[in-house]
Amino acid sequence: MAEAEFVIRPLQAGDHAGWLPLWRDYNAFYGRVGATALPEEVDRETWRRLLAPAEPVHGLAAVANGALLGIAHLLYHRSTIQIQDSAYLQDLYVAPAARGGGVARALLRAAAERARADGAATLYWRTASDNLVARRLYDQVAELADAVIYRQAL
Ligand SMILES: CC(C)(COP(=O)(O)OP(=O)(O)OC[C@H]1O[C@@H](n2cnc3c(N)ncnc32)[C@H](O)[C@@H]1OP(=O)(O)O)[C@@H](O)C(=O)NCCC(=O)NCCS
Repeated sequence: MAEAEFVIRPLQAGDHAGWLPLWRDYNAFYGRVGATALPEEVDRETWRRLLAPAEPVHGLAAVANGALLGIAHLLYHRSTIQIQDSAYLQDLYVAPAARGGGVARALLRAAAERARADGAATLYWRTASDNLVARRLYDQVAELADAVIYRQAL
């Protein structure tokens, strides 16, 4: 899909029906499906936050002919080592039929532009180390940080 065939824009209220299947498929990609699917109240609250101006959560959509092809979700947060916020790209997903046409690349570029415009100083994200398809793109547009993630359930 040529880049001219889709546009990137903020998620808007009328996008819910297009967003939800992409969001569910993205979660399924990470094993959150069936018995381990996110509770629907999480889906609902995430959608609410994505659209609420006061929330530090923002969504972008790649759209062609009124249909959503891909989504990216950004979170802003404070940093102790800089005055400006950092932007964390928590989710990136492109529908299988739209892959290989630059949609994810365009979403990443738009996420960086949006975060910069909102005053963030850095954009960062993480991925599974064996997600080689995504990493091929990431290696082209960002610097690989040397860090591992520890997590503690609370
Ligand atoms: C990873 C993902 C977002 C890429 O979306 P996409 O729109 O197909 O990516 P793009 O077309 O913008 O591709 C950008 C680059 O990624 C690489 N790439 C994309 N698809 C690839 C594939 N199937 N095989 C190898 N490299 C691939 C290429 O380097 C490509 O650039 P190039 O065509 O100029 O060489 C998409 O495959 C996806 O949603 N996967 C499942 C969810 C996921 O992994 N999300 C990211 C988790 S952090």
